[in-house]
Amino acid sequence: MGKRIFNKYESNVRSYCRVFDEILDYAKGSIIKDIKGKEYIDFFCGAGALNYGHNNNYIKREVMNYLREDRIVHSLDMYTKAKLDFLEFFEEKILIPRKFKYKIQFTGPTGTNAVEASLKLARKVKQRNSIWCLMGCFHGMSLGALSLTSDSSSRGGAGVPLENVVHIPAPYMFDGFDTIKYMQTLLDDDHSGIEKPAAFIMETVQAEGGVHVFDDKFLKDVETFCNENDILLIIDDVQVGNARCGTFFSSERAKINPDIVVLSKSIGGFGMPFALTLFKPELDIWEPGEHNGTFRGNNLAMVASKAGLEFMINENIENEVKRKSAIVKSYLEKYIKPLSKDYEIRGIGLIWGIETNNGKLAEKISINAFKKGLIVERAGRDNSVIKLMPALTIDDDLLVKGLDILKDVMEKTK
Ligand SMILES: Cc1ncc(COP(=O)(O)O)c(C=O)c1O
Repeated sequence: MGKRIFNKYESNVRSYCRVFDEILDYAKGSIIKDIKGKEYIDFFCGAGALNYGHNNNYIKREVMNYLREDRIVHSLDMYTKAKLDFLEFFEEKILIPRKFKYKIQFTGPTGTNAVEASLKLARKVKQRNSIWCLMGCFHGMSLGALSLTSDSSSRGGAGVPLENVVHIPAPYMFDGFDTIKYMQTLLDDDHSGIEKPAAFIMETVQAEGGVHVFDDKFLKDVETFCNENDILLIIDDVQVGNARCGTFFSSERAKINPDIVVLSKSIGGFGMPFALTLFKPELDIWEPGEHNGTFRGNNLAMVASKAGLEFMINENIENEVKRKSAIVKSYLEKYIKPLSKDYEIRGIGLIWGIETNNGKLAEKISINAFKKGLIVERAGRDNSVIKLMPALTIDDDLLVKGLDILKDVMEKTK
């Protein structure tokens, strides 16, 4: 079977398949097979959509049972039993134990749509146009979210001016740079030329931005800054939420209470399209239908989502992530970092980045790793960071086997 049909019909916009250039078919846990039967260890995880692995047995069983019984699949935002079960579970097992009192908005089923909802709502509540974000951020590709997303290649596709946002330098960008003081100056200096925003949005770990982990103090300081200045804090947990960092919400480690949280990717259980925007009840000033969408009532995704959360709790995934994180960290520091003085290691939980400081080299590493049976993506400035995101459920042996392949490839790739 050749790739003629893809080349002939599929738009030039396709991207991942250019590096991972085989026809994939089977997938279970952390193993993918192509149509020739070659196996790959998956350290990409659907860009964070498959935290509990491919075709997770527990989630799959719940989804198959639901389908077998002809339960309702599509229902816009009407009340359904699947939604009732999901909400009750989410309240009891996710919100109450964390003392969060969020309202839940089912948005269209992509991260970017849930980000759009958060931006619209923040602007509506505060009656201000501007949103602030950090340089290096990624929040999605639809126009509102794209105005935040900082990489120039994504922004280049917009076709219209990307407005009403201000990009703030991230703390890691300059030695000793005080991001909070800078933001306070923008507000206090009557010659700054910058208007007060409705909200400040950030990821606790810039994932697409090259795996930059913001420390607990910075997160706490951002929260204080937002509270003191009447600015809403939005945490975009689309990629690094769902236990990826060792707690369900990635910001739990800093003990903050964001005004709005955006979830997608792995909240869909095992790759089902699903997204949620959570916000404090007093912010819920939407008119009915004001942020609408045909696929908000994806009951199959709600079933998969609830099953994914059950699995996460029953299998103690948050603690497993912390344990496996130590394995990855020590491996990278012991075997990968010494390979070059240019390499830096960054990460938390089960998201790790190897900064090669060389985009061309990183591309070759990713291509060669794929040839050797390992799927790893790149991220960051000049795509120079090798980003490791194994499933949170990966066996220790397979995790180390994947790291061994990467080490071997990095030793040989010049
Ligand atoms: C932090 C973050 N926000 C938003 C998005 C957009 O999600 P989607 O691709 O589902 O629109 C992504 C996607 O990678 C992301 O990483």
